[in-house]
Amino acid sequence: MSAFPEGFFWGAACASYQCEGAWNEDGKGPSIWDDFCHEMNGKHVKNDDTGDVACDSYHRYKEDVALMKQHNIQAYRFSISWPRVIPDGDGEVNEKGLQFYENLVDELLANGIEPMITLYHWDLPSALQDKGGWLNRDIIAAFGRFAGIVASRLKGKVKRYMTLNEPQCVAGGYGGTHGAPGLGLGGEKVAQVYHILCLAHSEAYRAIKAVDPTTIVGAAICGFFTYPEKDTPENREAAYKANFDLSSDQKPWSFTPNIFLDSLLLKKYDESAPAVVRKFAETIDPSDWEKMETLDFIGINVYNGDMVNEKGEYVKRYPGFPLTACKWPVTPEVMHYCVLNMHRRYGLPMVITENGQSCNDRVHMDGKVHDPERIDFLNRYLLELKKGIDEGAPVQGYLQWSILDNFEWSRGYDERFGIIYVDYRTGERIPKDSAAWYAKVIETNGECL
Ligand code: NOJ
Repeated sequence: MSAFPEGFFWGAACASYQCEGAWNEDGKGPSIWDDFCHEMNGKHVKNDDTGDVACDSYHRYKEDVALMKQHNIQAYRFSISWPRVIPDGDGEVNEKGLQFYENLVDELLANGIEPMITLYHWDLPSALQDKGGWLNRDIIAAFGRFAGIVASRLKGKVKRYMTLNEPQCVAGGYGGTHGAPGLGLGGEKVAQVYHILCLAHSEAYRAIKAVDPTTIVGAAICGFFTYPEKDTPENREAAYKANFDLSSDQKPWSFTPNIFLDSLLLKKYDESAPAVVRKFAETIDPSDWEKMETLDFIGINVYNGDMVNEKGEYVKRYPGFPLTACKWPVTPEVMHYCVLNMHRRYGLPMVITENGQSCNDRVHMDGKVHDPERIDFLNRYLLELKKGIDEGAPVQGYLQWSILDNFEWSRGYDERFGIIYVDYRTGERIPKDSAAWYAKVIETNGECL
């Protein structure tokens, strides 16, 4: 295949709670995920797994960075644990926590790898949850302060930030029970969380720009993405409409990409918003809309999508449809169309901030980890991404999820997403076949695909 555009960057991603461990070391405060996991008896997390130790990256980060360099990784997206830096969320700063992230950033830079920071990847300080968490507007100022503290410390070293990771899943922690805090509240509360998340993003955006206006600030979103059954203009149109439809009986509005982005970028809810969202919207103080900031780029976490026909109907998958280890469908076409649809709606530059698959990886008799399915998955998705770019979608980079196997939230350690295997008994890291394959993709800027 012809190479990706010049300047396109390649990397990998992870998040604090999923890999760091050291859950109560060096002054770190507890987070809602510490609490969620520690409430055991199989209540929330498979096998009662916790992130207490995880990949122990808090202690082994130099080894991890060396492995990244060895595999040509150009950018590493990681998140900052808010309670490691500010143990109670809005009080005193924990110098050791801040120092850890500065050390990590310095190590990356010394190895020629661009650090990309996510400020919030779900590990909210428990003390803030006690005050209502993302339902309490006080969190907006607290998040802005946290962003400013991190940006000041890392000024001149970190160019690209993402304020929030997957607001859809943050809100899901309030509407559902599978992720922390797991409150299972009704739709109006979920709409309220989204609104506060938008204001918090905006506050953090301003705080980071106040430190250094040249910093690039976005957010990483997810949601349902659609792709057309047939590549006709009519079917493309139908898939576009379905992608941003908040009234679908197939897909809940609370997990669409636009329920978050429309407020920030269009400053309104989509006309298809259901009654519960419209009811909440009536309670919004009009001055809130003026506080909404933009994004300098949209980060898209994309794993799979749904096929839609010319009539705009979801097409049932055929029996035996390809699935990953965690039973997610393998739908490479989603890459092609999600970047086009997102570009059409918002017109902003984009980065694929996550993409990958979990496999039932194990160490084979030869001592190596062979993961042909992951290679096949990534290869197919990247070829489709290139089609979207060739049709004009301004995608600046691609981050594979994940550099290491890690703690997969309520699924615990059963799901392995890494291109590097982790033996959780010893912490040993073993690069999988996909790591060598990905190194080659990066080296050739995608030409070898
Ligand atoms: C999305 C999340 O951001 C990340 O934390 C998670 O591990 C991956 N997807 C895979 O589920």
